[in-house]
Amino acid sequence: MTTILAPEPALSVIQAVAHHARIGLTSTPKSLSPWLFYDEVGSHLFEQITELPEYYLTRTERSIFIDHADEIIARAAHTHSHHQPALTLIELGAGTATKTGLLLAAAVRQQGSVVYQPVDVSESALAAASANILANIPGVTVRCQVADYTREPLPLNRLPNTRTLALYIGSSIGNFDPIAAVEVLANLRAQLQPGDMLLLGADLAPGTHKSIPQLLAAYDDAAGITAAFNLNILARLNRDLDADFALANFRHQARWNPTESRIEMHLESLIHQVVTIPADSGSPSLTLTLEPGETIHTENSYKFTSAAITTLLTSADFIPTHTWQDPAALFAVTLATAI
Ligand code: AVI
Repeated sequence: MTTILAPEPALSVIQAVAHHARIGLTSTPKSLSPWLFYDEVGSHLFEQITELPEYYLTRTERSIFIDHADEIIARAAHTHSHHQPALTLIELGAGTATKTGLLLAAAVRQQGSVVYQPVDVSESALAAASANILANIPGVTVRCQVADYTREPLPLNRLPNTRTLALYIGSSIGNFDPIAAVEVLANLRAQLQPGDMLLLGADLAPGTHKSIPQLLAAYDDAAGITAAFNLNILARLNRDLDADFALANFRHQARWNPTESRIEMHLESLIHQVVTIPADSGSPSLTLTLEPGETIHTENSYKFTSAAITTLLTSADFIPTHTWQDPAALFAVTLATAI
């Protein structure tokens, strides 16, 4: 599996797509980096995934916020002194920020107003987030930043007597391998001050409450939306690079890897086939051969035990202070302090 990191800003998006596609498709086994999912079509398909009956992650995390937003905000702001700091909320990979409104509304209830700083690579997602929040939650000041939080510094314009609460929700951390996940959190930690807080949303590993079939269904839904999302990565290479992938010759696959505690998404070649990506300004043409049953690995989605969440946070110099789970123990939201 190659890196999930988004393209270097110096490269045009198309050049970055070409560069990363070539690296992944000439590796053994073949892979494609999951940031390639999220062009306009793929981002729209992901929004549809979050509403699927099988994809419990989004609505379960939302239910945790519905039940506990006030307590989450109160705990994040808590100190032992008389002066409670005002929280500023910053969100990594905010997208359209549909769940964040619940936390912002709680912050406004407790402190009268709140500054919210969503960070995302998608300018259109941030515009939608900002419009939605400004229209629905009076008392929120929104300061958007178009940036890749895995590489670029965060917009921490700190005011006196404030504390930053960083939100990293949606189990986005699960799309990084364990070493990269610690790096992402350590990079965040390096930009916070001791006493600042992190709220981390993480999907839980299968166990007594969650079965492996339930988990697999979340990544292989009956309506075929996740299959379309996965296959869109090949359609994108056809659109952006003029490649000639025949989508009908591939099948979406979701696998549970118990050793790594992750769902893997693959695209399986159904036949012996040859695919060509034509030469572009920077690189020669690429001819790929795929055998029947051979797969292109497109995504990992790690699933966490409580112990794994604690290890991840402490490895990045955060101390977990409280965890909330839904009653069915599908998903965990953990508050942690920067030490
Ligand atoms: C964005 N991320 C948390 C999703 C996940 O569940 O790993 C991406 C996704 N892939 C397939 N379905 C959803």
